[in-house]
Amino acid sequence: MTNLPDYLYILASILFIYGLKMLGKATTARKGNLVSAVGMLIAIVATLILAKLDLKWIVLGGVIGSVIGAAAARMVKMTSMPEMVGLFNGFGGLASLLVGWAEYHRIVNGAESSLFTLIAIGVTVLIGGVTFSGSMVAYAKLAEKISGKPVLFKGQQLVNGLILVVMVVGTAFICLNPLSAYVVFVGMVVISMVLGILVTIPIGGADMPVVIALLNSYSGLAASAAGFVIMNNVLIVAGSLVGASGLILTSIMCRAMNRSLSNVMFAGVGATVTAGKTFTGEAKTVSSDDVYLMLEAASSVVFVPGYGMAVAQAQHAVKELGGLLEANGCEVNYCVHPVAGRMPGHMNVLLAEADVPYEQLVEPGDVNPTIANVDVAVVIGANDVVNPSAREEGTALYGMPIIDVDKARVCVVLKRSLKAGFAGVDNPLFFAPNTRMLLGDAKASITSIVAEFKGA
Ligand code: TAP
Repeated sequence: MTNLPDYLYILASILFIYGLKMLGKATTARKGNLVSAVGMLIAIVATLILAKLDLKWIVLGGVIGSVIGAAAARMVKMTSMPEMVGLFNGFGGLASLLVGWAEYHRIVNGAESSLFTLIAIGVTVLIGGVTFSGSMVAYAKLAEKISGKPVLFKGQQLVNGLILVVMVVGTAFICLNPLSAYVVFVGMVVISMVLGILVTIPIGGADMPVVIALLNSYSGLAASAAGFVIMNNVLIVAGSLVGASGLILTSIMCRAMNRSLSNVMFAGVGATVTAGKTFTGEAKTVSSDDVYLMLEAASSVVFVPGYGMAVAQAQHAVKELGGLLEANGCEVNYCVHPVAGRMPGHMNVLLAEADVPYEQLVEPGDVNPTIANVDVAVVIGANDVVNPSAREEGTALYGMPIIDVDKARVCVVLKRSLKAGFAGVDNPLFFAPNTRMLLGDAKASITSIVAEFKGA
């Protein structure tokens, strides 16, 4: 019976891994989430059995956290979810840092320590601090509280390198004089947070998907390091899983942007390039009646959702239009770019919420080769991910593979104006000869097209 918590930890770890595997496929993702959540519940119960702690503090923390979480979930608008996810990453890092700090405080007050624990504390403070402050910068960029432009200064890499060296020296000092290094420890907490800011500010708006994924990975690594501090096996396993899956996501995002990680982290793409050419030709605007006629005659349609669909909350109307088109004998697909929206999987979540069949979700790589045969590509509030300027050197989007909607027979773009997207690069698609602009809120536009179909 004394080994019960360890057995429960093994069971929890198996459920985490199994749940993660299920998250890899859209059809099993919901179940995977549930399986992982059950694993976490088991891990928490096992920890409470193991720790034999004064439960009143845990219950108090749980109640306060639940109240804040429930209030935030109710109050935060769906369009602000990406910022919220950014904040959560940061709080994860801060929590790990505080675990390291609490353990160091115990050591200073006479608890036993080992060299291994002290090194683990140094690593936890470094990764936790970087994750916390880096996530706050990412939050501020996503919430547009600060400019998304990269901030670069001379000697930036050197300063970052020096900070890393100082962190290593600080950890060594703590290992040698654990009892008289409190000031050094607090200094390390502060400079780790300075490092988090310095490594995040050079990353430009268009590359934010990579930062979000990377910070997510760091939050896992910080948790894993905290697991080594307090020698909690399930924290080590869960943290490593988050860290590793975050790294895989980072690599997927890098591929989606067609950049290497070092290019994203250090090149400051977008700082010196212009916002691309300014396009002033005449955009051909159409009404929803016109779009209805085009769609009614189409035998293949591809919907391309972007951040504007999330703002308009148009996913249910889009699904309804898709159903009507199918009933009209049209082949309907939905093509999602990996960086569309403001968080990984943003569009997939919205389309799943509207019950769009998974079989109709297609990858850009599958659509692009045959897009010339698509009768109508309907762009719903997407901009950067369909911007042909990405094919031109010198813009912040250069090199990012896009969905080639400009090569479809007709492309209908639903947005409110001709303004640039998140990366601030003007979009020549709006002035292309085969593009038609349906200006207005995407949900209102789709709803009136649906009404035309129903009235016909
Ligand atoms: P964006 O380039 O952000 O463009 C979205 C467009 O939606 C805007 O140009 C806006 O134009 C339109 N819009 C806003 N509200 C609308 C409404 N109610 N109805 C209709 N249209 C509306 O979107 P995207 O193509 O999805 O590209 C995503 C961008 O965000 C990329 O640059 C990506 O790198 C970046 N990013 C992504 C992530 C992740 S992880 N996915 C994270 C951070 C940043 P109007 O104002 O004219 O309507």
